[in-house]
Amino acid sequence: MPSNKSYDLIIWGASGFTGRLVAEYLFQQYTKGNGEKAALRWAMAGRNKEKLEKVRSQVADDSIPLIIADSHDRQSLEAMSAQSKVICTTVGPYGKYGSELVAACIATGTHCCDLTGEVLWMRDMIDKNHESAKAKGVKIVHTCGFDSIPSDMGVYYIQQQVKANTGQAAQGIKMRLKAASGGLSGGTYASMNDTLEKVRDNKKLYKTLIEPYSLNPEGEQNGPDKPDLQAVVFDKQANSWIFPFIMAGINTKVVRRSNALAGYPYGKAFRYDEAVMSGKGISGRMKGIANAAGLGLVMLAKPGSFLRKMLNRFFPKPGEGPNKQERENGFYNMRFYTTHADGSTGLGKVTGDRDPGYGSTSKMLAECGICLAKDQTPDVAGVLTPSIAMGDALLKRLQANAGLTFEYKADA
Ligand SMILES: NC(=O)c1ccc[n+]([C@@H]2O[C@H](COP(=O)([O-])OP(=O)(O)OC[C@H]3O[C@@H](n4cnc5c(N)ncnc54)[C@H](OP(=O)(O)O)[C@@H]3O)[C@@H](O)[C@H]2O)c1
Repeated sequence: MPSNKSYDLIIWGASGFTGRLVAEYLFQQYTKGNGEKAALRWAMAGRNKEKLEKVRSQVADDSIPLIIADSHDRQSLEAMSAQSKVICTTVGPYGKYGSELVAACIATGTHCCDLTGEVLWMRDMIDKNHESAKAKGVKIVHTCGFDSIPSDMGVYYIQQQVKANTGQAAQGIKMRLKAASGGLSGGTYASMNDTLEKVRDNKKLYKTLIEPYSLNPEGEQNGPDKPDLQAVVFDKQANSWIFPFIMAGINTKVVRRSNALAGYPYGKAFRYDEAVMSGKGISGRMKGIANAAGLGLVMLAKPGSFLRKMLNRFFPKPGEGPNKQERENGFYNMRFYTTHADGSTGLGKVTGDRDPGYGSTSKMLAECGICLAKDQTPDVAGVLTPSIAMGDALLKRLQANAGLTFEYKADA
């Protein structure tokens, strides 16, 4: 990779809800930090100079350069990516605005990390760019936010612990979201609607969305896992009722892709699934049913229908999202129940200290960008998952700087 670039990283989409949080984090924790941290060379980018200037005046100062690049103008994207070792992008929906940037990054030898949870777009990017990115030594890293870092890095960490304890990787892991507090942004809601619109009346795309192994390499899209949970059931190992997790369809596929890209260190028979815990007894069951019904309503409302229009009125618009207090009081607590070949079990735990979608996600994306620019990362390239692209270096950063904790206890 060329090292004569002006910047370590550029945050593109800095005028949006999540992009401005990334810029604020970089300014507070790095530009205003000590020693090596203060030496980080970064810039804010977007399509609208006035908006960028306004956001810069609120979250940083004039020392941070501004760069103009529009997703519809390939030349501007190449001019931007040529200047930086890494582009962190929060310009979404990625299926609408992200593809040209990926091509520009590959053309200019620039790593790229994003916050997409759009499975259809990720499949498209893998098909179109995995080989060319690999040939250029470029890492294109999707899902560098709440989806799917806690799941992907959680399984990566826990499998290391299980191997150290039992000599073999866990045969199965169940992620159960125990508790979380946060909110949704208009950008995320728009991205979700964009995906629902695409799969409507398109069976092939719908299959990609629901098939468990659809992000695996061609010819390796099979294994023991079934499509994600669609009911409320009692989970004995977690001793709780569980209901469907909205992010499961993304996270589980990312974990399976990591296993495949690494040559199956978790085994070809490895099983992984995700759900949300709603507690014990009748109240836990009722809570699960109420949550599952709400989720079903959001997912099944047809784009353009009366129900979708009604729902749209209750969700935030692009540029909006949870306020500072909601972000700072937010958190998440994920449990990972493991089963092993020798009959033993274990319990892993991943927590985050801000709301999952924005407070924590903005720190995770920033640390991924810095990790790709500065750390010794595994010698792999292509369209990758976070654990494959950054491995132990990212694990270290997330714990040291981004407020995540990773724990594991055998025989729990
Ligand atoms: N994985 C996760 O955990 C996670 C968490 C949070 C967000 N996300 C994803 O991140 C994305 C952003 O979310 P958000 O809430 O920050 O959205 P947002 O507030 O709507 O911000 C979108 C950004 O994209 C920019 N943009 C739009 N069209 C553009 C174009 N043609 N060229 C260049 N820039 C353009 C906007 O610029 P203007 O300001 O000029 O309009 C804005 O800066 C969404 O796809 C969302 O799903 C994922």
